[in-house]
Amino acid sequence: MKGIVLAGGAGTRLYPSTIAISKQLLPVYDKPMIYYPISVLMLAGIKDILIISTPTDLPYFKRLLGDGSKLGIKFTYKEQPNPEGIAQAFILAEDFIGDNSVALILGDNIFYGPFFSQMLKNAVKTTGTKTGATLFAYPVKDPQRFGVVEFDENKNIKSIVEKPAKPKSNYAITGLYFYNNNVVKYVKNQKPSKRNELEITDLNNTYIKNETVHLEILGRGFSWLDTGTHESLLQASQYIKAIEDNQGIKIACLEEVAYRMHFISKEQLDNIADNYKTNPYYQYLKTIN
Ligand code: DAU
Repeated sequence: MKGIVLAGGAGTRLYPSTIAISKQLLPVYDKPMIYYPISVLMLAGIKDILIISTPTDLPYFKRLLGDGSKLGIKFTYKEQPNPEGIAQAFILAEDFIGDNSVALILGDNIFYGPFFSQMLKNAVKTTGTKTGATLFAYPVKDPQRFGVVEFDENKNIKSIVEKPAKPKSNYAITGLYFYNNNVVKYVKNQKPSKRNELEITDLNNTYIKNETVHLEILGRGFSWLDTGTHESLLQASQYIKAIEDNQGIKIACLEEVAYRMHFISKEQLDNIADNYKTNPYYQYLKTIN
């Protein structure tokens, strides 16, 4: 399975902080925001990852992440000239996807919770074999801001409505999507919405109509963090800091994930740590065993 991180958009809600730098490069406590979604794809076992961003921001992502070889994975890059919708990612990524299944994660989505790695591995295993798509839903107090699930009488997913005025449930669809190889074909047949975007929600409804869609519910004890406002961004940093301080671990430390997933050896991990001996992030790498 291939992986895509979509990290474009104008980020105007966070102006002036995002006038000169992409939102997904802002720090969430002790690392850039994009580390969190990348760690999700890596935990799913995905080693071939396409980063999509704006023509101005893409060079900064390249500078941060390089070709991925230090993490035992491969990063490639693609420009999205204009923010014409989340689903456009699959058209931009057509050659990259080839005849594979694909996972897409939004570059500003942060997930943290128990059994998540197992859920991700299941999604990789079943999408394209048993199901056409795997989506994740999370209960929120303000569903009007998201794509919202409508359930049928058997509690199966019936449809998704984007930013409904009157939500049919409080379950938001998160920015993590697994699709079989039909995804490019479906998006190519899709019409732009009223706001002139290729909507991810329209794509998901096409899947619900034509294929088996597995909806994984992220329940109590799970955290899906918002980074859309200055306040929620600060809260996300405080949340990550609290867990990291309490448990003495790091969340979304890419070098650690690469080691634990056996993408790199202990020796490679130690070599990375040796580069910045006095920096606490890199000192942490020395403590991993
Ligand atoms: O976070 C989950 C939600 O993401 C879902 O519940 C919604 O169904 C989905 O539409 C999306 O809602 P948002 O209101 O967060 O979408 P937004 O347009 O803000 O885009 C989300 C991220 O994707 C944002 O960081 C910018 C980036 N993006 C967006 C578009 C439309 C791109 O990189 N390119 C784009 O063309």
